[in-house]
Amino acid sequence: MMEQDIERVLFSEEQIRHRVAELAAEINRDYAGKEPMPLSVLRGSFIFMADLTRGIDLRCTVDFLSVSSYGKGTTSTGQVQITKDLSEDVSGRDIIVVEDILDSGNTLSYLMQLLQARNPSSIRLCTLLDKPSRRVKPVTADYMGFSIPDYFVVGYGLDYAEKYRNLPYIGVLKPSVYE
Ligand code: PRP
Repeated sequence: MMEQDIERVLFSEEQIRHRVAELAAEINRDYAGKEPMPLSVLRGSFIFMADLTRGIDLRCTVDFLSVSSYGKGTTSTGQVQITKDLSEDVSGRDIIVVEDILDSGNTLSYLMQLLQARNPSSIRLCTLLDKPSRRVKPVTADYMGFSIPDYFVVGYGLDYAEKYRNLPYIGVLKPSVYE
């Protein structure tokens, strides 16, 4: 049913599984002896967060926050709002912001500044996807799954108008769906 709206598969379940395991291994190495705190930026990162954290073999605390910037369109409005804040205190913690996609950088540039002001011991950014060609704000990820051109992608947490998040792979949406 959803399949008919997908032009092609960009990253299969197997490719994603493999890359997410590599990212988790990097984190295990970099944070050895520490207790990192992965923070999932909802809603897009919920599936990535679940898979990434299960690959992390360190004691860690997870937390979630929600920001909204896109509305129902396909481009960022540049206006960022926190719609659900963290439950935990991040001061003195080694936090890792977990995102599904880094696009214009508007969301992350705002969010990283906001979290930095809460005095974590360290702050890093882990994004599954990066669209460097779209960047407006100078944000770079410390851990990045795949760098992609400016395709409109859905699945594995990523939506269009709140749909397709539950596709198990990442696909390119047919332009006819959003034009
Ligand atoms: C996506 C993504 C990032 C943001 C990236 O969230 O999860 O938070 O857009 O775009 P930017 O770099 O241009 O700011 P979205 O607003 O689509 O919400 P969602 O996570 O609920 O899908």
